[in-house]
Amino acid sequence: MKVLIFNGSPRKGNTLTAIKALQEGISARADAADIEVTVIETEGKNIIPCKACNACGCMSRCIFADDSPEINEAVEAADVLIFATPVYWWGVTAQLKLVIDKFYARASKFTGNKKIGTVVIGEAELEDAEYEIIQKQFACIADYLEWDIAFAKSISANKPKDLAADEATLAELKQFAAAL
Ligand SMILES: Cc1cc2nc3c(=O)[nH]c(=O)nc-3n(C[C@H](O)[C@H](O)[C@H](O)COP(=O)(O)O)c2cc1C
Repeated sequence: MKVLIFNGSPRKGNTLTAIKALQEGISARADAADIEVTVIETEGKNIIPCKACNACGCMSRCIFADDSPEINEAVEAADVLIFATPVYWWGVTAQLKLVIDKFYARASKFTGNKKIGTVVIGEAELEDAEYEIIQKQFACIADYLEWDIAFAKSISANKPKDLAADEATLAELKQFAAAL
């Protein structure tokens, strides 16, 4: 099983802590040796924003020189995609959105046979509409691409070390990884 995890955060904080918990959960599985986990740090990737030129329709890749073809090949090969992102202005981070927009170049090859998990982390309490908005966005993408949602977790945490102190949530993330 190939698991591809997107880290949408530019800092070493709560999202990274969540990803580490997921990785620990995978490592603890009896079949861990058969699972390949790759983390894509969206911060630092060179992604030119989609220009809607539609040239990718002929080539199944962006015609502009950036890191998106390599990322899209990894998405195509993955059995499980995990999107982990902080909330920035009621949405996913710009770094992650740039990557998702480039799915457009290869979306027809992504359809079906994948599970996804989402981890959305914001400062606001969980009653805030932002979590529903972002999880709904992922649910729509999954529906469009015929992906199954394995888990959709929203977390309230703000300072970089907040989530590290939340043992119950970390245990829950490990459980999600165990059940993939
Ligand atoms: C530019 C920016 C915008 C943010 N917007 C929101 C927001 O709309 N709602 C919210 O709850 N938190 C917001 N936050 C707080 C982060 O989501 C929060 O600190 C989160 O824990 C960061 O995750 P990280 O530690 O993985 O980077 C924002 C933070 C930044 C830097």
